[in-house]
Amino acid sequence: VRTIRIGLLGCGTVGGGFVRLLERNRSLIRQRAEAELEITRILVRDLEKRRDGIDRSLLTVRAEDVVRNGVDIVVELIGGTEPARSYIREALATRKHVITANKAVLAHAGRDLLELAAIHRVRLGFEASVCGAIPVVRVIRDGLAGNRVRSITAIVNGTCNYILNRMGESGAQFDDALREAQAKGLAEADATLDIDGEDAAQKITILARLAFGSLETRWLRREGIRQVTPEDHLRAASQGSVVRQVVSAREHDGTIELEVGPRLLPLQHPLARVRGEGNGVILQTDAAGELVLYGAGAGSLPSASSVLADLVEIARAL
Ligand code: HSE
Repeated sequence: VRTIRIGLLGCGTVGGGFVRLLERNRSLIRQRAEAELEITRILVRDLEKRRDGIDRSLLTVRAEDVVRNGVDIVVELIGGTEPARSYIREALATRKHVITANKAVLAHAGRDLLELAAIHRVRLGFEASVCGAIPVVRVIRDGLAGNRVRSITAIVNGTCNYILNRMGESGAQFDDALREAQAKGLAEADATLDIDGEDAAQKITILARLAFGSLETRWLRREGIRQVTPEDHLRAASQGSVVRQVVSAREHDGTIELEVGPRLLPLQHPLARVRGEGNGVILQTDAAGELVLYGAGAGSLPSASSVLADLVEIARAL
């Protein structure tokens, strides 16, 4: 069996989940990838931090130990724009395949990075950047390759969905619900990215580019959920509705129109049944009609599941 060497950048919520999942399903993954997948180096910030189930001898604080060190695939799970973007660029430019969950980098520099990957004939996998465990990138890119996508309407931020569910169902205070989401490892290191809508904006930008190509984008609305009050939830309930953070994208007159913000959803709306940190995506297409996807939108193993999907696909092709 071939051995494919993996350099891992970051060992936080998703990185730790990735290492555990690779270990837990090792023989299944070996069969599916037709190769042994071996993590040879892991970049961390703090060598002393306790990390259950992680081989300490693999840890390093020097990114070059991971990116420049004879690996076949670099898995970037540190998040944020820099230095992640530079590491990804360097890995691609030195002909390593890259898998990333980094929606910030992809939303801002995705086109450049995909071009760089094409120039160097390597792959850039980013299933984990959007909607946690839901394989929505594959659905749009592969499953719907013969369709024209008419619109995407979705819940893409687990933290906001968790907060709004808790507030609506049990009258929880915004701050308490946010703290719970943080304790569950759902929120970004800087949770303002979640609650002010930036995380959702990045994710819908990525999905829209996949679905509609490289047209110009135009924001019709870009709002967070801080201003949603308990009274808003009560009013929604009295009308048979719930308040949710919803994103949407559609093509209009040659531009991609995007929206992010809180929206009232009637209880029978498909996205109203997305609970907790779940995500949901409704795709309207010309041939396949309407598709609805649900699943875990954030968290350690759900996100790791999508990283593994890219990893197995790339490993098979190597
Ligand atoms: N903070 C993100 C969320 C993590 O809550 O959805 C997954 O991208």
